[in-house]
Amino acid sequence: MTQTRRTALSRLWVAALGAPLFAAAPFVSTSALAQTEITVQHALPLNSHYGAGAAALKENFERLTSGRYRVTEQRNDNEREMVESVQIGTLDCTVTSTGPVGNFVSEVRVLDVPFLFRNTAHARGVLDGEIGQGLLARFSSRGLAGVAWMENGFRHLTNSRHEVHVPADVQGLKVRTMENPVHMRAFSTLGALPTPMAFSELVPALQQGTVDGQENPIGVIVANNLNQVQRYLTLTGHVYSPAILICNPAMLARMTPADRAHFMTAAKAAATANRDRVTEDVNNGVAELRRRGMIVTTEVDTAAFQASLAPAFAVYERELDGALLRRIRDWHAQ
Ligand code: PAF
Repeated sequence: MTQTRRTALSRLWVAALGAPLFAAAPFVSTSALAQTEITVQHALPLNSHYGAGAAALKENFERLTSGRYRVTEQRNDNEREMVESVQIGTLDCTVTSTGPVGNFVSEVRVLDVPFLFRNTAHARGVLDGEIGQGLLARFSSRGLAGVAWMENGFRHLTNSRHEVHVPADVQGLKVRTMENPVHMRAFSTLGALPTPMAFSELVPALQQGTVDGQENPIGVIVANNLNQVQRYLTLTGHVYSPAILICNPAMLARMTPADRAHFMTAAKAAATANRDRVTEDVNNGVAELRRRGMIVTTEVDTAAFQASLAPAFAVYERELDGALLRRIRDWHAQ
């Protein structure tokens, strides 16, 4: 959306900030909104699982609105900045991991707890069900619209020093983490030196040896060629990393109810395309990283990692919503 139009419309919509996602929209003539542009930013290359989601959002929303809306996809590898921009209305939407999101909607932090989800079906089931939808509803009181859960995937550890099989191998490693206190606590409990930084700073930090390692899903490691700066990959799967489509509520409220419904349909299609791509990357990515020369460790003592994290789990129970953590752990498909 152009800055002039945004400024004019935002005057109308100041009161809508913080309103529920689908607050009734006052009348705005559709001709005034012809060819409205919506910008969606995310941190990964276009050829990635976020790119697949954004492309599906674009294709579906533009088709369903017969071209009255145009969706532009842009890359911005600072997720915290993108969420801030969506909140103040200088950016329409972002697809982001939950890494920085707990700093805006603290309830979301439960999802970042290590070894919380047994597998992908468990994670997707929780996010698509009552618990996930309840968390999305929390965004509106923080000036954000949580539109749909998407996926980053299970995170795995890479480093430039040695193979990792057991918790002792992690001790003393300088590991870049997201700016996420839940993750940082987990790595410090394991005896690593967690170094939080935006993704934009990661490759230089690995090249200069400021950090020895990092952790991310297979699709991120492949799409960003992290094999060029990391020799060892261990399939720790230590935490599921949800992603989320967050939009500016005033931008959504400006749409007609029919167009908002189209946007939600397009968002669902985006989540499906994104998850399909994550699954594809998990199936093919490890072989690809081996082909590119990474040494991949698949034998990991997961029980030992979980046992070593016991002090961190006790803190999460106390500081986060312990009852919600138990509900998520106990969740099973009907
Ligand atoms: O490590 C991160 O910061 C995130 O996983 C990334 C790569 C930006 C994708 O959300």
